[in-house]
Amino acid sequence: MTKRLNVNIDHVATVRQARRASEPSLIAAAMLCEHSGADGITIHLRGDRRHIQDADLFLLKQTVTTYLNVEMATDEEMIAIAIQAQPDAVTLVAENPQEITTEGGLDVRSSLAAVRRAIERLRAANIIASVFIDPDRDQIAAAHEACAQQVELCTALYSEHAKHHARAAQRQKEWRRLGEAAELAASQYDLSVAAGHGLTYRNVGAVATIEHITEFNIGHNIVARAVLVGMERAVQEMRDAVHQRRAW
Ligand code: PXP
Repeated sequence: MTKRLNVNIDHVATVRQARRASEPSLIAAAMLCEHSGADGITIHLRGDRRHIQDADLFLLKQTVTTYLNVEMATDEEMIAIAIQAQPDAVTLVAENPQEITTEGGLDVRSSLAAVRRAIERLRAANIIASVFIDPDRDQIAAAHEACAQQVELCTALYSEHAKHHARAAQRQKEWRRLGEAAELAASQYDLSVAAGHGLTYRNVGAVATIEHITEFNIGHNIVARAVLVGMERAVQEMRDAVHQRRAW
């Protein structure tokens, strides 16, 4: 099965918002991602707007030529924004204002009616509806009951174990859990299966061996690497600007 990579560019916006500046441009970042082979762009429009802004979503909708996936909470205000912006897909996530990043999957089972209502509205607007869940059998069944077309399996726990050599057994157990969840979602419920959260250049390979996972949403590790691999050139260009001593 083919594997698609959506690049999550939230943290390009984090750098921009640190100064409420116009750079780095999210549009330029998205275009470079696409030019470099990304199959799609993912952004998370958080309730507190700490990185991505509403205007980013509408501008990206006009410029992204591959696939635009927007992560958001299930509340009505957010769904209304999505319907207006018309991205290709919306991934419903759990959101807690105090969290540094999304902490785990959405509990679709305990909020089934609200999730189903949100999905109904998204699908009526021709937007693909995905839910970000832990790799749990009952959450997959609930996603199916809520009429989701896709599940994104949360790889946070797998990624956390992968940071520690001593946790090889837990890492393998979590990897097996992801595999079983992907198999159940795809084979029994005919759901598309994505994965994401905490994936890195080192730990993604094993997850990519799971046949039914066809989409990856990866952000922080790519942006973190981009900062480093781009540093040499950025410094050289500023050094040149200083040495040229050109007055305005
Ligand atoms: N998938 C979902 C649903 C997320 O909330 C996030 C983080 O915004 C990601 C994927 C990407 O995670 P990371 O930035 O750790 O790659």
